[in-house]
Amino acid sequence: MKLPNHIAIILDGNGRWAKNKGMPRSYGHIIGCDNLEKMCNIICEIGVRYLTVYAFSTENWKRSKEEIKILMNLFRKYLKRCEKSVKKNQMRVKIIGDPERLEPDIQRSICKLEDMSKDYDKMFFRIALNYGGRDEILRAVTRLVKDARQGKLPQGKISEEMLDSYLDTPGIPDPDLLIRTSGEQRLSNFMLWQLAYTEFYFTDVPWPAFDKKELDKAIEQYNERDRRYGDVKEEKSKEGGACL
Ligand code: FPP
Repeated sequence: MKLPNHIAIILDGNGRWAKNKGMPRSYGHIIGCDNLEKMCNIICEIGVRYLTVYAFSTENWKRSKEEIKILMNLFRKYLKRCEKSVKKNQMRVKIIGDPERLEPDIQRSICKLEDMSKDYDKMFFRIALNYGGRDEILRAVTRLVKDARQGKLPQGKISEEMLDSYLDTPGIPDPDLLIRTSGEQRLSNFMLWQLAYTEFYFTDVPWPAFDKKELDKAIEQYNERDRRYGDVKEEKSKEGGACL
């Protein structure tokens, strides 16, 4: 069985899962948080090198004030308790997205976690917080244009590699497998640039109920796909030819 090198997950369905149990949405988020910790350990144990999860989008600010408050408090707690998994899994954690809209204490916790995990390299764990794919591309292009105007970039055409290096994921291989839980089959503005050749796996199982068995199913289905891009990419690096 071939393991994806990079798995990306859109964590969806906390609210519906809780509603089905006659519980408030916040309960779904709490269990969703616990499940992230559990699945992150499992994904590391099976040997996947890169994991990126979509936790809070630029659009999620439209949710009720009360729900945003609950989510931010959960992120606060999660960022602290993540320190344990960092050591256990020897994983480097980074937040992608624009941290500026997050409260100062959350920004400080992010810096602390990124700093304390910076020398680990068994797994690379990225959490998308206040993240939007279009916003990421806009932020990248703004910085690129600024550098170009200041003469910091080589003259000539802007290459994919150049733009890639201005995104929130420089040096990170693109996801091989994207999993979205809870039935929706769309990207919702997640990693628009990086998912160009990724295999998509959609499941009806909501995030709080997504377990090792469900992960195995996703990896099994990934193995049944014809991964042309991987081969083409290898050819490209050998021959320097075009990647179609
Ligand atoms: C999706 O469920 C979940 C979210 C948008 C909230 C963020 C995710 C978590 C709390 C999981 C843990 C993440 C971290 C980083 C601690 P939903 O509210 O969209 O559910 P619904 O679609 O059923 O309404």
